[in-house]
Amino acid sequence: MNEQTAVKEAAPAQTRLPDAQTVTEVQHYTDRLFRFRVTRPQSLRFRSGEFVMIGLMGDPDPKTGRQKPLLRAYSIASPSWDEELEFYSIKVPDGPLTSKLQNIKVGDEIILRPKPVGTLVHDALLPGKRLWFFSTGTGIAPFASLIREPQTYEDYDEIILTHTCRDVAELKYGADLVESIKQDELLQELIGDGLNKLRYYPTTTREESPRMGRITELLKDGTVFSDLGIDGISKETDRAMVCGSIGLNNDLKEILEGYGLSEGANSEPAEYVVEKAFVG
Ligand code: A2P
Repeated sequence: MNEQTAVKEAAPAQTRLPDAQTVTEVQHYTDRLFRFRVTRPQSLRFRSGEFVMIGLMGDPDPKTGRQKPLLRAYSIASPSWDEELEFYSIKVPDGPLTSKLQNIKVGDEIILRPKPVGTLVHDALLPGKRLWFFSTGTGIAPFASLIREPQTYEDYDEIILTHTCRDVAELKYGADLVESIKQDELLQELIGDGLNKLRYYPTTTREESPRMGRITELLKDGTVFSDLGIDGISKETDRAMVCGSIGLNNDLKEILEGYGLSEGANSEPAEYVVEKAFVG
């Protein structure tokens, strides 16, 4: 799903937003990235890692005055136990939705269709020992949910979150999150020492930082493994979830298949799963 293939549904003009939720927090990171939190519908149940359709009303039709909801798929970045919902978004200057969405303020309403779906869920993977979360850009969103999910730490001995961005400022959302969850009292209570299993591996491609390069290249030349002190990726022990651009997803699929891992789905769990970072 992208800006061009968005779902549009007819709705009468002048009505209250359908499936309205209220914005409770907004934080801008760069001129390309921001995060926001909204109220959660009481009836909404989801599995950490899933996405929902969210959006705003589009501009009135010049002829009829009617407005249609403008919806896009967004991964829920908060865990399933959180009382609010969090989203992490790109700002596309001429994007029909994100050019408006980037202006939301606390107290504003957004539309949220309460039908969560997705493949980046624990159910789509066979049991394993080490879980990799490979992300680029806003593709970190589903993993922001999963690294706050107790099951992640119950099911695996080691969790490695890789995040590749163009520059250091774009890493801030993930860096702050990893730092904050290690200090979070509620998470300590839920997950306990398990949080120590989480390893964070940020890289940049267009600005100097302690670790530079695309994650795909760093896997191919073995840098990731020597940095983390592990032997490599194996079908027996390693499981992976991938979320980023189409290019990243395809390149990583090839790399993971090269290690003997095969792609899973809700209906047929296997060793890795992939989902596109939707808007951007
Ligand atoms: P690069 O700077 O070399 O293009 P974007 O902001 O465009 O969504 O990209 C986010 C990050 O993903 C960038 O660091 C970008 O690196 C990286 N990236 C893009 N395509 C791939 C790919 N096919 N494999 C690995 N990393 C990629």
